[in-house]
Amino acid sequence: MKKIRKAVFPVAGMGTRFLPATKANPKEMLPIVDKPLIQYAAEEAVAAGIDVLVFITGRNKRSIEDHFDKAYEMEAELEARGKEKMLDILRNTLPSHVSCVYIRQAEALGLGHAVLCAKPVVGDEPFAVILADDLVDDPNGGAIRQMIDVHEYHRCSVLGVEEVPKSETNKYGVIDPQLMDDGLWEVRGIVEKPAPEAAPSNIAVVGRYVLSPRIFDLLETTGRGAGGEIQLTDAIARLLHEERVLAHRFEGKRYDCGSKLGYLQATVEYALKHPELRDDFKSYLKTLKDL
Ligand code: G1P
Repeated sequence: MKKIRKAVFPVAGMGTRFLPATKANPKEMLPIVDKPLIQYAAEEAVAAGIDVLVFITGRNKRSIEDHFDKAYEMEAELEARGKEKMLDILRNTLPSHVSCVYIRQAEALGLGHAVLCAKPVVGDEPFAVILADDLVDDPNGGAIRQMIDVHEYHRCSVLGVEEVPKSETNKYGVIDPQLMDDGLWEVRGIVEKPAPEAAPSNIAVVGRYVLSPRIFDLLETTGRGAGGEIQLTDAIARLLHEERVLAHRFEGKRYDCGSKLGYLQATVEYALKHPELRDDFKSYLKTLKDL
């Protein structure tokens, strides 16, 4: 089995839940304190040894490309003013050995279709998929690193999962799990956004996947599913009839930054850990204790 070198970031979604902030900017560019969501996701991939980042973009893609590009004018300006610290931040958005590829998804046909758009770049290798609006705070290496470890040991596809309240199964891909000895789950089935009464469990996929390249062939013949979209979940449901698929409850705290509440929770908690901000921010929060 080949080493995981490539990660796919589907970033073409409309982000309607954050309108008007997402009218002209992708939701993945929303910052948590001072870094956009997409940079946290890219750093998680790089920390896992991935060196090719494949962004599936749509309308309003430019700011993501610009973010990972060299900012000549700003660098020259900061250099002239001797602002070394800012220059460092600007130059170190990504390490130099990492390359970025941008593929335009012409039509927003769903997550499965977005992943299929990466086929010409990923080719015949297993690869990672990271949904940047699921932000995972794991100081010990990151969620995708843990999943790649599972993949390297078991040599199969791995889904990142967590237990969600039963009432929320209709927001996620939900697995039919069989617990294994080592705490992993064997995936026996998977359904996209089932109603609580129809859900096979409350174990949901949360924005992290390590997938076998066979998924591309299956996506090519997967029709529209839930919400009229080509769903990655439906192709995984077919994949597990042919190949083993495991689910891993990764360590770390996940924030659903696709929702306003999750986004605010992440903002507050990351601010409380931010080296320059935490003391002042904590003092400020204490003044709100009457809430
Ligand atoms: C997507 C996937 C879903 C998964 C979720 C995780 O849904 O289709 O299976 O559980 O991401 O965040 P979306 O949130 O894009 O509707």
